[in-house]
Amino acid sequence: MNRLVSACLPFLAMGFASAAFAAENLSDQQLEGRRFFQQSCGICHTKPTLTSPVFGPVLSKATFTTGDAQPKKQIADGSPNMPGFKYHFTSTQIDSIVAYLKTLDAPTETPEAKK
Ligand code: HEC
Repeated sequence: MNRLVSACLPFLAMGFASAAFAAENLSDQQLEGRRFFQQSCGICHTKPTLTSPVFGPVLSKATFTTGDAQPKKQIADGSPNMPGFKYHFTSTQIDSIVAYLKTLDAPTETPEAKK
């Protein structure tokens, strides 16, 4: 466990540094949503890490152009390729994640997401 903690520390520190950097632009709700997103969604929905390509689509305000209902359903219920989070997050917490995702600009390049 200790090794795991020390292995994660540099990444945590980077997270805190970027949090401090952007915090003034985000509401408390959006900051909470970002924390949940980084903990539970980033592994599949952010740009490639050292070892893995992005697995799900890159999420942004563009995800919600046809409304919140479908993305929220996906977050709650999941899909064959994505776990559902309705037992992990309350609907208020899912709202926070959505509020945060809506602060993100659509990616300019095409993500290499595989459906
Ligand atoms: C195991 C990897 C994985 C995790 C973890 C994951 N997702 Fe996904 N997600 C996917 C994949 C893959 C898709 C593409 C659609 C599909 O295959 O279901 C997707 C699709 C979505 C969509 C629909 C996007 C669209 O354009 O229609 C939303 C919204 C979404 N995810 C939100 C989240 C949120 C929020 C979390 C964290 C609470 C999360 N996902 C965690 C893999 C993941």
